[in-house]
Amino acid sequence: MKTIIEPFRIKSVEPIRFTSREERKRILQNAAYNAFRIHSEDVLIDLLTDSGTSAMSSRQWAGIMEGDESYAGSPSFFRFEESVRSITGMPYIIPTHQGRAAEKIIFTILGGKGKYFLSNTLFDTTRANIEFSGAEGIDLLCPEGKLPSVPAPFKGNMDVKALRTRIEALGAEHIPMVILTVTNNSGGGQPVSLDNIRSVKAVCKEFGIPLFLDACRFAENAYFIKLREEGYADKTVPEIAREMFSYADGCTMSAKKDAFANIGGFLAMRDLELGIRCRNLLIITEGFTTYGGLAGRDLEAIAIGLQEVMEEPYLQYRIRSIEYLADKLVAAGVPVMQPAGGHAVYLDAKAFLPHIPVDQYPGQSLVCALYEAGGIRSVEIGSLMFGKYDAEAQLIPAALELVRLAIPRRVYTQSHIDYVAEVILEVFNNRAQLRGLRIIEEAPLLRHFTAKLQPV
Ligand code: F0G
Repeated sequence: MKTIIEPFRIKSVEPIRFTSREERKRILQNAAYNAFRIHSEDVLIDLLTDSGTSAMSSRQWAGIMEGDESYAGSPSFFRFEESVRSITGMPYIIPTHQGRAAEKIIFTILGGKGKYFLSNTLFDTTRANIEFSGAEGIDLLCPEGKLPSVPAPFKGNMDVKALRTRIEALGAEHIPMVILTVTNNSGGGQPVSLDNIRSVKAVCKEFGIPLFLDACRFAENAYFIKLREEGYADKTVPEIAREMFSYADGCTMSAKKDAFANIGGFLAMRDLELGIRCRNLLIITEGFTTYGGLAGRDLEAIAIGLQEVMEEPYLQYRIRSIEYLADKLVAAGVPVMQPAGGHAVYLDAKAFLPHIPVDQYPGQSLVCALYEAGGIRSVEIGSLMFGKYDAEAQLIPAALELVRLAIPRRVYTQSHIDYVAEVILEVFNNRAQLRGLRIIEEAPLLRHFTAKLQPV
């Protein structure tokens, strides 16, 4: 059969609230044209993030009831540990309340002034935790990853030549770790190939630098390898995932993504001495080693979700449903990043709204237009999020002006996605009428979360 169906039935539903265009105009104004300020009850289709927004399975809900809330030695922890170990092969597994808590622990221990962390692309919280420690984060994405409209199979790959040059220039002794983000969220949810992971590992090994994976979307990455990389079509996703982790000395994970959990994460590694240091810090900041800031029931949900996410009918439906939305948009001439990512479709706002200059935030204007036209919430990944000011208070824009439509896992059906495409096309057909925005209030750091804006 050609039709790829949702590989689940729906047992429990959550109503969504319809609003009129007039209401949404008012809501936008009250939210100061910032989607983070909109109450989720006023959103019809929420594509702000795929993080913590998954629908859990009946097996996960059953696991929630099995959760053992003992402070120490809970069986829920051992089930969680076994699930993580079966995929990563790593002996030291440290639960944390979300991905950035794992980052905080590892970068507190390995970071500091004069240190450099090299990556394909660091996610914002990863970079923030590196910088907070006093160290510097450096992105070395492959050249094709920087061209939104040019399709390539593994646009999340690291530039291996640049990695070697950088290590030689900075000195391996100043580089505590290389990090591969799989899939590369900030670079469009694009996958990293096993060939690239192997090559990066070979360079790391030569210089004695540990390789870590930021593994939030490891299963989506593994499925892309199965589909696109020579020699992997007949391998199972768990086999591919195990091979990915086999080259890594450790990983950080947000279980809010590819573990279908609403909260949680972990840090895992092979080195005993590092493991002990991380566990000691965990006890101070997150909790005892067998719960790390999580309830036992969350550990159960993660243990089960990590296995479910590798089921191929799910991944086939997942990857195809993202591509389905991108295909519809591409067919209508809407500029989108190509190929579609594993968890999101990214609109190229600069090409969508060429008449709005970057200092009037075309991405944010598009975010507002999608909300006003159809109650869809998306997020700007452009100069509102990443722009900085020079000494004359002029905006230094971001490299790309993107709008991310992140698709929560197992939450929306094909007709929801058809509706999303219809709304985007309506906005696209009326794009000449859209205006830019100006910031009227902003915080010094991570301003996009709280900034207030106004139409120009
Ligand atoms: N690494 C990557 C690649 C991520 O995408 C995220 C979160 C994190 C680390 C941090 O994990 O939220 O559990 O602390 N990304 C979310 C997003 C927030 O919307 O892309 P966390």
